[in-house]
Amino acid sequence: MTLTITLARKVPAKAELAALAVTKETVSGAADDHLGLDWAVLNSRGFDGSIGQVQIVGGPAGPTAVLGLGEAESLSTSAFRQAGAALARAAKRHKRIGADVVDAGGDAVSKAEAAQAFAEGLELGAYTYTALKSDPEPNKLVGVTLVGAGKTITAAVAKGQAIAEGVNLARDLVNEPGGSLTPAAFARKATQVAKANKLTIKVMGLPEIKKAKLGGLLGVNRGSDQPPRFVEITYKPTGKAKGHIALVGKGVTFDSGGLSIKTGTGMMTMKCDMGGAAAVLGAVSTLSAVSPSVKVTGYIPLTDNMLGGDATRPGDVLTARNGKTIEVLNTDAEGRLILADALSLASEAKPDIIVDLATLTGACMVALGPRYAGVMGTSQDTVDAILASGGRTAERVWQLPLPPEYRSMLDSTVADVKNIGGAYGGAITAGMFLKEFVAEGQPWAHIDIAAPAFLDAPFEEHPKGGTGFGVRLLVDLIENFS
Ligand code: BES
Ligand code: MN
Ligand code: ZN
Repeated sequence: MTLTITLARKVPAKAELAALAVTKETVSGAADDHLGLDWAVLNSRGFDGSIGQVQIVGGPAGPTAVLGLGEAESLSTSAFRQAGAALARAAKRHKRIGADVVDAGGDAVSKAEAAQAFAEGLELGAYTYTALKSDPEPNKLVGVTLVGAGKTITAAVAKGQAIAEGVNLARDLVNEPGGSLTPAAFARKATQVAKANKLTIKVMGLPEIKKAKLGGLLGVNRGSDQPPRFVEITYKPTGKAKGHIALVGKGVTFDSGGLSIKTGTGMMTMKCDMGGAAAVLGAVSTLSAVSPSVKVTGYIPLTDNMLGGDATRPGDVLTARNGKTIEVLNTDAEGRLILADALSLASEAKPDIIVDLATLTGACMVALGPRYAGVMGTSQDTVDAILASGGRTAERVWQLPLPPEYRSMLDSTVADVKNIGGAYGGAITAGMFLKEFVAEGQPWAHIDIAAPAFLDAPFEEHPKGGTGFGVRLLVDLIENFS
């Protein structure tokens, strides 16, 4: 947690900056309800109360950051999250700020919901990846006092901060270069997270991975000087668990494409290829704070995809954990190979549902563009739950089909299945491939986060680079599981 967020009855005198939130309606009716703000200046700067807008002007208690919440009738938690993020970005030169926003939700957004989303937004907006900068831009903001009171609001703020911390952990992991965030380094980080949050963890190294017959993971790792890891991390509720959710995350710490090598440009962002693994670890890291009454196990296969002298060759055949054989015709379709083992292992535990997250296909980016993840699966209930969670957390997800008549696109001449489909429908054929490694009858959904895991420009509460996409969605899914 980077910020100390406290509650008070009013904006304290020691705050260097006050903040308040307004809807578009407040702005257009400013003559009646002017809140003591300098509307001439606000107008001249084009402030109209749109979501995410922020302007610092003179106000009744001194300099005031005015935050836009958009239209009153479509107010949602997303507006408060974006307002928090905009404030944290705009207030970096101030040490302490006081914000009167929690009440602004009216009937649409409760005070607790507003407080949680605003606290999330503050932590998300304050995030920058500065680990490798010698002279990072200073950020003085340490404390925010929210106008509000009571246990519910206090708990909501703490929850918002815990969830944002999970998102920021995922962002850090995605932003760290592939040369330093090796599979071993990721596993060490997971071990620290487990220790700090009373989670149980099992880390398999090369010998254990061989013994467990994770042939997909071993095949992808074959061209690398870095040994693979497989992390299994578990949260157990204190009371009786009302279910068990398995989360699987693609952890390719760098994807060169292997012998089916990518282009220089295609490789530039490929440190992001463990975005699914980061989202799973980020989500699990919040659970001792959020304390849902569901057991959750994260399955995280970790390797990079390199092209050393003994790298898997196109045409090689691998045997996955569940015994199915895979003809590797393109070594750049590696994510599905390591997920094959992880989904088989997760199936063996017979959880109520399995959800995997993976930066799996460029095709999904082509289909849905930069902001949307694709979701598909064998359980429409699980897909619906994911769509509902994404709606609440403002992480955009769109369903794609898994048509049985496309299965033949994966037919191999020599093995049970090949690792690429045809020229079209690449996101779907990747999903169809994964389905082969989920036990029959096991409810499962797959979220392809290739696009939203890593952005080339800031968007809403997300910075450029690693976004931590999926962490909030997974926590919401776990909390609402029934
Ligand atoms: N990691 C990539 C997918 C990706 C692309 C993620 C762009 C984020 C941004 C994945 O391993 C990959 O290379 N997929 C191939 C599959 C193809 C060879 C069937 C792709 O999408 O081109
Ligand atoms: Mn690849
Ligand atoms: Zn990949």
